[in-house]
Order: sequence, then C-alpha cells, then structure tokens
Amino acid sequence: MLRYVRPHAASLTLVFVLALLGAAFELARPWPLKVVVDYVLVGQALPAWLAGLAGLLPYADSPRGLLLWAVVAGAVTVIGSVLTMLVVRMIIVTVAQRMVFDLSREVFARLQRLSLSFHGRHAVGDLVQRVGQDVFVVQGVLSAVALPAIVAALSLVGMFMIMSRLDLTLALVAVAVVPLMLAALAVFGRQMTASSTRQWQTQGAMMAFLQQSLSAVPAIQGFARERYVQRKLEERGDDLLDAHNQATFVSLRYNQATVLITGLGTAVLLGLGGARVLDGHLSAGDLLVFLAYLAALYAPLNSVTTSIGAGVAAVTRGRRVFEVLDSQEEVPERPQPVELIRARGEVVFDDVTFGYWQNQDEEALPVLEQISLRAEPGQITAIVGATGAGKSSLISLLVRFYDPWSGSVRIDGHDLRDLSLRSLRENVSLVLQETFLFPMSVAENIAFGRPEASRAEIVEAARAAHAHRFIERLPEGYDTQIGEKGATLSGGERQRIAIARAILKDAPILILDEPTSALDAHTEAQIFEAISHLMKNSTTFIISHRLSTIRRADQILALENGRLAEQGTHESLLAAGRVYAHLYKHQHLAAL
Ligand code: CTP
Ligand code: MG
Repeated sequence: MLRYVRPHAASLTLVFVLALLGAAFELARPWPLKVVVDYVLVGQALPAWLAGLAGLLPYADSPRGLLLWAVVAGAVTVIGSVLTMLVVRMIIVTVAQRMVFDLSREVFARLQRLSLSFHGRHAVGDLVQRVGQDVFVVQGVLSAVALPAIVAALSLVGMFMIMSRLDLTLALVAVAVVPLMLAALAVFGRQMTASSTRQWQTQGAMMAFLQQSLSAVPAIQGFARERYVQRKLEERGDDLLDAHNQATFVSLRYNQATVLITGLGTAVLLGLGGARVLDGHLSAGDLLVFLAYLAALYAPLNSVTTSIGAGVAAVTRGRRVFEVLDSQEEVPERPQPVELIRARGEVVFDDVTFGYWQNQDEEALPVLEQISLRAEPGQITAIVGATGAGKSSLISLLVRFYDPWSGSVRIDGHDLRDLSLRSLRENVSLVLQETFLFPMSVAENIAFGRPEASRAEIVEAARAAHAHRFIERLPEGYDTQIGEKGATLSGGERQRIAIARAILKDAPILILDEPTSALDAHTEAQIFEAISHLMKNSTTFIISHRLSTIRRADQILALENGRLAEQGTHESLLAAGRVYAHLYKHQHLAAL
C-alpha cells in the first residue's frame, strides 16, 4: 500500500507537522485548570515565570483578572486544537479520496488485463464490490488508523513526560494500562480478523447474487420464479446480517473491554492521587491536571486500539483488493515480445492439447486433444461438430484467451506466446458466439475495433452486414444509445452490429463463431455475399451449423469430443461417409 502513499508524501508530512501542533495544544489544555484551582481559588503564590507573565497582562494581578486570563488561555488552546484537527482531517480526506480513486483505477485496469480463466473463477458482482467498495480501505487506513495512531503516540509520549515530572509513581501507574490493552488486543484480534474476513466475503457474494439475478430478470419473470429468487436473496441476506453482526459484536466487545480497562485505571489513580494530595505531595490543581491528562491519554489509547480494530478490518478488505492486483497473468507476455505489424495470416495449430482449469483441479480433462491444422492466407476454414465438441475453445486459443497445455499455436511462424498480446489481437477480427454490445452509440459499437474510423466507413460496414436499414430506423440512427447488453435490439440486430464491427476492423485473420445463428437463411446468404471479398483478403475461420455457409469453405474440420475427427473439403468428407456426412445428412433432411 505504501506505493500509493508515496506520491502524497508532501501532504502527509504537513499532516504530521500539524498533528504535532495539535498534540501540543492538547498538552496545554489542562493547565488553565491548575491556574484557576491553585492560584485563583486556593490562593497559592504564583511561581516566578507565571508571575512574570501575569505582570505583562492587564488586570492579571487580581484573582478575578487571573481567572479571566485563565479562561482566555483555555479558549485559545481549544480553538487552536480544533482548527488544527480540522485542517488535518481535510488534508487527509483529500489525499485519501485521491488514493481510493488511484487504487480503483488500477484494480480496474488489472481486471481488464486478467485472463478469461480469472474471470471464469470470479463473479462479476464480487469484482464490482472489490473495485467499487473494498478500495475505500485506503481511506479507512489513513483516517481511522494512521492518523489516530500518530496523534495518540505523540500525546502519549508528551503526557507521560509531563505527568512523570508531576509525580513519577502516578505516571507509571497511569501507563500500566498499556500492557492490559495489548492483552485485550491479543485476545480479540484473531476473532476480529476471522469475522471481518467472513463479513466482506459474504458482502461480495451478495453483490454477485444481486448482479446475476438482476441480469436474469426476463428468465425469472418468464418462469414466474420471483418468489423463489426472493427467498434465495433472503437466505443470503440472513447470512450477510449474521456476518455483519458477528463482526460488529466482536469489535464491540473489544471496545468495551478497553473502556473497562481505562475506567478502572482512572478509579485507581483517583484513589492514589487523592491520597498524595492528602499527604501534601501534590496540589489539588496538580491532581486535576493529572486526571485531565489521564482522560486525554486514555482517549487516544482507546482510539489506537479502536484503530487497530479498524486496521484488522482494513487488512481483510485490502487483501481482497490486492488479491486482484497481485493475481498473476495467466497469459503472460514475454519481456520483449514480438510486435506483429500486419500478419500475412498463416495459422498453424501444432499438436495442441487444451483444457480449462489448469492449476485448480488436477482431475481436469482436456477439452481439445492433439489438434493439428494449418490455414493459409485467404483460405476459409469451417469448423463443424456437435455442440460442446470444442469449436469455440479452439478459436479462443487463436486469440490467446488461454494458452494450450501442450503444443503450440502459430501465426506467420510466430508462437502466440512470443507476440505482444496487443499486436496479436490487432490482427484478428472477431465475432464471438455471444454478442457483446457496449452502452455507447450504435456507431461507437461498430467502430469499437477501430475508433478512428470515419462515419462513411462505419456506414459501409453496416451496409455489408445488412444492418444499415434497421439502424436508420432507430430513433437517432447511428447515434442511438444502445441499452445494457443491447437490450433494446433483437438478437439478429445485435449479431449484425457485431458482424459490422468485425468487417470494419478488417484484420488479416477473421474469426466468426456462429455469426449468423440468429439470422434467416436469406439475410445470411446476402451477408456472406457482401463480405466475400473481405474473406478473400483474410484467413477466415467460421463456425457454423449451416451447410450453405460451410460448403463454400476451402477446408472443413470436423471436431468430435475435442478431437479432430475429419479434415477435407465438402465433397471429400461427404464421400468419406463419416462424421461430416452424418451431420450433413441430418441437416439436409431437416432442410427438406
Ligand atoms: N468449457 C469449459 N469452460 C469454459 C468453456 C467451455 O469447461 N469456459 C467446456 C464446455 O463445457 C464443453 C467444452 O469445454 O464441454 C467445449 O466447449 P466449447 O468449445 O464452447 O464447445 P462448442 O463446440 O463451441 O459448443 P457450441 O456448439 O455449443 O458452441
Ligand atoms: Mg461454441
């Protein structure tokens, strides 16, 4: 965390200096009390330095005048202390907010870089909680932990020095509570860590549940399962309440224990100190100063222990934030990666075996086994196979969403692991099976892969994807804002925007994962007509269940349970009479 503190070193030094000043005001606060009791009420003679000071002030020679000046001095110390702490808090808050924002920004940047495996393991809601809420931990650390700890430590030292000059024995008794406080911390600290870890985990799980169920509202309503989901929410709510209560109860018990310790300490000191005044070792004013110090000393001691409690909570939330920041990249770049400018587009899979969950689960089975293939620039490769055969997994290796367990994937002879991720992905146009639209305008969605594209180019791409006509009919045409996940568009409209996006990007490698599954056969044919020149200039991989699409491919790969069962042209595979011929027969009959 120190890394995030360093840029604010100057402000924090100022805070430290001001905190010193504040502590000095605190130290001065009880002294007017002594003046009033000992010199005004009891009528003792003023000590030499005070008599000198009183000589300079008007009216200070009479008891009432002295009383007035003591009150003025008291007011000055209070105002001074209040103003310093106000400035200190304002600086701290400003610095802390900035740090929270910096941290949040960095966590978000990190989340964007982390691999799909990472995102597969973490719920979106939980990550939102981390990036949006848990980052406030730095603010807590500064204002509830560091600041009180510094103020308390400074006052502790100053007060102990002054108290020990008044009466060493009493001063020693006064600080005897410190080890007791530490003992309380030892007893409660572990419980506090455990309960606060559970608290924030449950909170993250709740956010994940909310996020998932709110995105599934159509399904929930369609199945009339509102009550069921509500009940699930309430169960989680109970868990969450329980976790919050546990955490609060533990820190309450701890706080009350410290209040008890300091309260008993004060009682003991009142007894001892009273006896010292009776013996004539101490004046009544000294005892008052002593007791005021004691109250003032125990307050920061309490706040140190409270802030240790807050610190414990901060550590568990901080851990959630830094778990993201410290996650290792699962598709790391080499220190000096190769920058692929514009690839020719020769793609080779060399004996690739791949599965999900590499490190987590020893039992994991491969999803793709010993795949070898080769696609030349300008060629169209169709990938067919039953659902779940591994088609989408195969192409996700080509953009390096994941790395293979063994074997290698190469573009123009470069192993993907040698390329910079950015340059690799600049060379690929992608239409994913699941369409992602962003809460921006239609034009921005189409230009997502090439934000600098002109409006004319955007329109041209939209025409090729047969999206121009429906876009024009939208309320604000190309400037219509798209709702979350494209909620206001039909499935086919969304797919056509995704196709336009890939067309506009115009990369040497084009990947289409069932790009037209939501389109009617006629529109599909027209789109392929329109983008056929694009496919001639690039190496195209297309996953489709439509034979009309597959037939035009230069080579067809048939996957079966993660293995490459067959490879060839439409005619040769049909003649072979195996997997492809089987798929074909079923669809052909269905089409009739
Ligand atoms: N799989 C997985 N983790 C993922 C994605 C997929 O474990 N993040 C598994 C699936 O459960 C499936 C296998 O990997 O058993 C292959 O999935 P995929 O490549 O997506 O299959 P496709 O052939 O693309 O299937 P579909 O036609 O249904 O899209
Ligand atoms: Mg798929």
